[in-house]
Amino acid sequence: MSAYPSDQRRSDAGAQSPATARHGAGSGFVVVANRLPVDLQQLPDGTTRWKRSPGGLVTALEPVLRNNNGAWVGWAGVPDVDLDPIVEDGLELHPVPLTATEVSDYYEGFSNGTLWPLYHDVIVRPEYRRHWWSAYVEVNRRFAEYTAKVAAEGATVWVQDYQLQLVPKMLRMLRPDVTIGFFLHIPFPPVELFMQMPWRTEIIEGLLGSDLIGFHLPGGAQNFLYLAKRLAGQPTSRGTVGVRSKLGVVQVGFRTVRVGAFPISIASAELDEQSRRRSVRERAAQIRAELGNPKHILLGVDRLDYTKGIDIRLAALEELLREGRVDPADTVMVQLATPSRERVQSYIQMRGDIERQVGRINGEFARVGYPVVHYLHRPIPREELLAFFVVADAMLVTPLRDGMNLVAKEYVASHSGLNGALVLSEFTGAAAELRQAYLCNPHDLDSVEDAIMAALTDNPETRRRRMRALRRQVLAHDVDRWARAFLDALAQGQVAGSALLSDADLDPGR
Ligand code: ADP
Ligand code: G6P
Repeated sequence: MSAYPSDQRRSDAGAQSPATARHGAGSGFVVVANRLPVDLQQLPDGTTRWKRSPGGLVTALEPVLRNNNGAWVGWAGVPDVDLDPIVEDGLELHPVPLTATEVSDYYEGFSNGTLWPLYHDVIVRPEYRRHWWSAYVEVNRRFAEYTAKVAAEGATVWVQDYQLQLVPKMLRMLRPDVTIGFFLHIPFPPVELFMQMPWRTEIIEGLLGSDLIGFHLPGGAQNFLYLAKRLAGQPTSRGTVGVRSKLGVVQVGFRTVRVGAFPISIASAELDEQSRRRSVRERAAQIRAELGNPKHILLGVDRLDYTKGIDIRLAALEELLREGRVDPADTVMVQLATPSRERVQSYIQMRGDIERQVGRINGEFARVGYPVVHYLHRPIPREELLAFFVVADAMLVTPLRDGMNLVAKEYVASHSGLNGALVLSEFTGAAAELRQAYLCNPHDLDSVEDAIMAALTDNPETRRRRMRALRRQVLAHDVDRWARAFLDALAQGQVAGSALLSDADLDPGR
């Protein structure tokens, strides 16, 4: 499915200076993201190979880029290497180098120790460290400089996510000729939480360098508009910008910045087709047999992240087992967890907690040869993952906060047989669209347990009706539609129809 040299061994990762990254006349469509769609892996024998990068951003954007023949500017996932640009299937990958210190301060520090927890409802306490911020500014400047070299005259540049919020303004100063879009893949926080940020004005001003700023949900756009009005018009150490905001539009001096909601999605039709393949069906049946042919298979698929509520679904299962509402003889849970941000303290701590929970549940309820919870801490190949989606009787998606959650949509797209059930946290962006899921409040264990029980025991016709409604939504709103909506709005200089915010949206009531 990948257009990239996935898993291909390469030993030609040569030294490369930023200046030589420029290609001919440049590219007319450039995506800028912290990560490239592939990660470089250095093997013990000195060779290297490329692997698909983790996370939903890559899942969503890879098919979009494949259809648009663009360039992708991003980090190759390892410190201290300078790589040549790679051209694959008409797509240029432009690696931006990061030093080990920058990985620690910009990526693990400011991006994932400050912004990630702040934007996810401070589930973990954000740390505000000055030297992390300095590294964030420095690295954002480097991304802007690389992009300025890669983009053709008048190009469209699409900047992605929280790691690069300063890039729009920096790039505009370097290249006023380009059109700049920005999309935030994670939630944009409530005003009171964002106001904690010591560098709040700089971040809002950085984003306002864009022509169009996209969020998953109207609530995020609304929070941003309020903050733009409140913060960016005020004097800063570097002068004042006059900002007025109304109706999804922020007027920055003579420039108009548009703000809207664009809920992201997946390549639904492709996944639907792949999940119907005989090889996938056979593998699904084999997995059920390997698990001991249980009556109920529950599935969790996540990056190992504290926002995902893996601990919550385990706690719910443990209580259901203890109360005898779930029988360990006929129920199995599979938790597939991709390693993520493994040097960040909160992630180290959470991994230990979850692995203890898994051990405790199995210690208490498993029989020899039949664990109740199967836990794999590794990325699963795409085709194998699909077989897990297909075989699962219920999918457990229980984040405390999630911008969208593509796993929920992937599960729905792989259930053409209408024989699955989706348990979904109300605190995901996906819950705004997937109203027929078994919705639950992850802060309320009873609510999670009841949703799991309903998903497992509802009569088959109710389950089918719900799944049919979910599939209608996911198949009609795929990632191409998302990208077209954003890029059309960017090209036309307007936020179309449903993406417009109303006057009521603009009053956060604070
Ligand atoms: P996030 O972007 O926060 O990681 P999403 O649910 O939006 O969350 O996207 C996660 C993506 O990563 C999905 O495409 C999902 O299939 C993939 N993924 C998650 N866990 C695994 C895993 N254990 N193995 C392989 N892919 C995974
Ligand atoms: C989420 C973020 C992405 C990020 C991905 C994986 O999807 O929105 O920006 O790339 O998680 O996280 P990582 O830190 O490994 O890039």
